[in-house]
Amino acid sequence: MELRSVEELMDLLHACRGARDTPDLSGSRLRSSGGTRVGDPVDLHEHALQTAALLRRGRPSDKELQVAGLVHDVGHLLRPGDDAGHADHAADAVRPLLGERVSRLVRLHVAAKRYLAATSPGRGPSPQGALTPTGQGDAMTPREASAFERDPLAEDAVTLRQADDAARVVGLDAGVM
Ligand SMILES: [Fe+2]
Ligand SMILES: [Fe+2]
Repeated sequence: MELRSVEELMDLLHACRGARDTPDLSGSRLRSSGGTRVGDPVDLHEHALQTAALLRRGRPSDKELQVAGLVHDVGHLLRPGDDAGHADHAADAVRPLLGERVSRLVRLHVAAKRYLAATSPGRGPSPQGALTPTGQGDAMTPREASAFERDPLAEDAVTLRQADDAARVVGLDAGVM
């Protein structure tokens, strides 16, 4: 599916209301104790708004990055159950409407997670970084990580991922950040 109009995009974002799912969101299915939650704390709609809001605060001039944050998880709605492919589905869907850079940022958000799992101290085998058996892969190998770093969008993709990981706060008002 490709998005051809803002209306279609808005419909998809609205469909995120009440949708949770996704080990990618929290790894919560693996987390029964020692963590902070059993289910995802916010739905995909709130998660999208919070991700965009955090990016607006951190990168106020980069509208494409903010938009990428808003749409990065719509793949969960496009192909329910295909968690492994959700970044690719979203990237393919938004490219005609939002352009190549937004599409690539969306596509890279899972790779950026694997990159951070490999390179960020303390993130390694945490529930967030230790990946679920859903086919999203594990922490990058050193070779994969250096290939990722050579991507011109790597730094932006990591920024998106950090906002993604932080955008799970119940009660956070994304509108006034
Ligand atoms: Fe995701
Ligand atoms: Fe996300």
